[in-house]
Amino acid sequence: MTSQQIRQSFFDFFISKQHKIVSSASVIPHDDPTLLFTNAGMNQFKDVFLGTGKRDYTRCADTQKCIRVSGKHNDLEEVGRDTYHHTFFEMLGNWSFGDYYKKEAISWAWELLTEVWKLPKERLWATVYKTDDEAIELWKTVTDIEHSHILRFGEKENFWEMGETGPCGPCTEIHFDNREIINGPAAVNEGTSECIEVWNLVFIQNNRGVDGKLSLLPAKHVDTGMGFERICAVLQNKKSNYDTDVFTPIIQRIADVSKQEYFFTLDTQISNPKSQTDVAMRVIADHVRTLTFAIADGAIPSNEGRGYVLRRILRRASRFGRKLDLHEPFIFKVVETVVQQMGSVFPEIIEKQKHVERVIKSEEESFNATLDRGLEIFEHVVTDLKQSKEFPGEEAFKLYDTFGFPLDLTELMCEERGLKVDIATFMELMEEQRERSQEKNKSKWMGGPAVSFWVDDNEDVEQAMERVKSEKFNKHDFTYDKLEIEYPTMDFGRLIYEISTQEEKRFATGIILEETPFYCESGGQISDTGWVVIADSNDNLKTYSVIDIKKKDDRTVHIIDINPTESDTRVKYVSRISVDIPRRYSIMRNHTATHLFHSALRKTIGTHAHQSGSLVDPNRLRFDFNHYNKLSENELRDIEIIVNEKIRENISLQHHRNIPFDDAKKMGAMMFFGDKYGDKVNVVQFGDFSLEFCGGTHVKATGEIGFFKLLSETSISSGVRRIEAITGTTADDFLRERMNILERSKDLLNVDEKLIAEKISQLIEEKKKLEKELSKYRLLSAGTMLDTFVKNAHQQNGISIVAEKVTASDSEEMKNLGDMLREKMSKGPIGKSGVGVLASVIDEKVSLVCVVTDDVIKEKKLQAGKIVGELAKQLGGGGGGKPHLATAGGKDVAKLDEVLSTFAKFIQQQLEK
Ligand code: ALA
Repeated sequence: MTSQQIRQSFFDFFISKQHKIVSSASVIPHDDPTLLFTNAGMNQFKDVFLGTGKRDYTRCADTQKCIRVSGKHNDLEEVGRDTYHHTFFEMLGNWSFGDYYKKEAISWAWELLTEVWKLPKERLWATVYKTDDEAIELWKTVTDIEHSHILRFGEKENFWEMGETGPCGPCTEIHFDNREIINGPAAVNEGTSECIEVWNLVFIQNNRGVDGKLSLLPAKHVDTGMGFERICAVLQNKKSNYDTDVFTPIIQRIADVSKQEYFFTLDTQISNPKSQTDVAMRVIADHVRTLTFAIADGAIPSNEGRGYVLRRILRRASRFGRKLDLHEPFIFKVVETVVQQMGSVFPEIIEKQKHVERVIKSEEESFNATLDRGLEIFEHVVTDLKQSKEFPGEEAFKLYDTFGFPLDLTELMCEERGLKVDIATFMELMEEQRERSQEKNKSKWMGGPAVSFWVDDNEDVEQAMERVKSEKFNKHDFTYDKLEIEYPTMDFGRLIYEISTQEEKRFATGIILEETPFYCESGGQISDTGWVVIADSNDNLKTYSVIDIKKKDDRTVHIIDINPTESDTRVKYVSRISVDIPRRYSIMRNHTATHLFHSALRKTIGTHAHQSGSLVDPNRLRFDFNHYNKLSENELRDIEIIVNEKIRENISLQHHRNIPFDDAKKMGAMMFFGDKYGDKVNVVQFGDFSLEFCGGTHVKATGEIGFFKLLSETSISSGVRRIEAITGTTADDFLRERMNILERSKDLLNVDEKLIAEKISQLIEEKKKLEKELSKYRLLSAGTMLDTFVKNAHQQNGISIVAEKVTASDSEEMKNLGDMLREKMSKGPIGKSGVGVLASVIDEKVSLVCVVTDDVIKEKKLQAGKIVGELAKQLGGGGGGKPHLATAGGKDVAKLDEVLSTFAKFIQQQLEK
């Protein structure tokens, strides 16, 4: 049976048992922050098991794309070195949601394996959770398995859990004894390829909570998982998964690309060169599948989280490529074979093939730049180790930090040499670096003031704390609905606010109110500023600026520039408070535009692109996102067009405030792995175009944005791009200014504006031509000037020395002048020997030409090339040429006079040498 037929016969079998065949979920669990990658078929049904979700069927089956490289289920270390572990694999599974239970699960599994697939019963073994007598009894009664082949195991082997938390339960596993000759008990659960687990039947009945405790689920379910690649090996009678038709085309492609042979070895001895190439090919074959599926489903290599796992995998594959003598990017070339092999089952990889190839290639290119150098350093360190078996943590860190070697790659390389990395030192250095970068960030983002309590004359610190935290002030204080609030005589909490910058240290007053329209910086949107009308101790009303907004114990603190220690300006009560409304409107326009941009971006370049940072202020919006290369002009134009279209559609804001997190998730609002969300969240929606978790403030309808203009697109780090854009009046002003420039240019050039560029390039051409002409004329008249230079030359040891400034338009003209000077010197009025240098400032740089007459070259051993090189060095440049004539350039225009005036002395020194 081919692998295709095996997959299909699994589906057919469960269709005959009234199961619905469903699609594999994405390998990136976009809405489960507890998982980096989908690691089991049941992940997509977690909500059904927990009782929070429902399906319109109670039995189903599928093949699920799984990645096991992190967290509870991690097979990375084994991959390639054995024959049956993979970072990416397909899990065939069947499920019952509160429908059938242990009896059917066990008897159907047995039926499929022994009756449909006709596996020899004497090779099959069942393991059961130690206390699950019911399952033992069922194995004995509903199947004809040999009773001695039913074994009890503990938690580690037979209590299956999805992760640190989540649905779980006792399981029964079926193992296949793969020995040539069956003889004595099989090595069940001993980690050998001789006897491997092929199918796991989990009886989901518990949930593991965040506190680590097990609770009972509302219903009992069945969740099974069969390793597709393993069952293919068993049914195709192969000793290794890599020898089945799932892998052979991929291995063959790697063999072709590397022009090496695959030897079908099973051992992994370092001393056996054949097994070393085989291991490398197996690792690459495995990793390319992981990369293809993860990237097709929206992940992208980066420096953190899921992206870093992918980066590590790709770098491992790159390094194994070196063992096959592959030095150019090659992994991307194997993607095509994976797509041919698996595209019919998972069409998403056909659609994303080009994208996947581009991402992998660009990532390979960037690692290639440092990989060889890193490997060299590794070899040096290993040689220097001599007897020691410990690879220094400092070196591992250097490989990581400078050469991009993930720690596990260095560990793997060490293991191959029987060495161990000093992990403790590595971790210490990582920690130090983390602290350093935090320090750096701190001074960038948090250089501002620190908040401390103001203690009133008649209270102590404790009382002040209580006052601020009192019941009254514990309400949610920020309101979206107002921009101004009037208070008859508002009571308030007061804080002393210390403004300390490098330049000064002064005190300000912090005020907390029951309700406030002031937004405090969060989610990229900066704080509001505005005004407050307050009464001082003498009841005089006065307006003060609110210069900043901070949070203290979840309360909004309005910072006002009043020194609280000066009694005559003490705040008595607050009468009115108002946000700077035009400024806030500009911020809201930019914030809503950020959401529109985000959606337009994903529509244009793909859903892998997501926000990795954002800043929204009144003047502009800045948005960072993951993407592997520069956006093209077309992409930028498309994005701008889409955003402006959505602005003109004037889509109304739907603000879902304080809704349960699960409801927001169900709506499909965009959220990101790693973000922490509370039980209640806010969701901002603009029609069916944009839906995001967001606590910020937005315009009532997109039309208020007016106009959206992208200003720039740049790279800020590997795989992270940044755009800046403007909206509203800022965009208006920007365009008006550009129009003015156009108008002025049009008037000056006296052409239609469409022809401006053409006209300018024409003028540039003309200017070049004229300069050429001019230089010709200058040369014609240069004779007299050069005669004077020679006549006035400094005389030394019978040699004329010339050092003069001239006017020229390019180095060609300088050369011509040099030639003429040399000619004149060799026929000089005093003697025939001469050394000369001419200098000109062209485009703010020094251009030099040096000439030496033949006799001086011969008798005095002076050479123009060497002389000009020395001079150029003094001018911060370089150059050289022939002994008789050479040119050079330098940046240091200010030094030129000095260099010329000391030229004679310089030649004197050369002659004395
Ligand atoms: N969820 C079970 C497993 O992954 C079937 O092994």
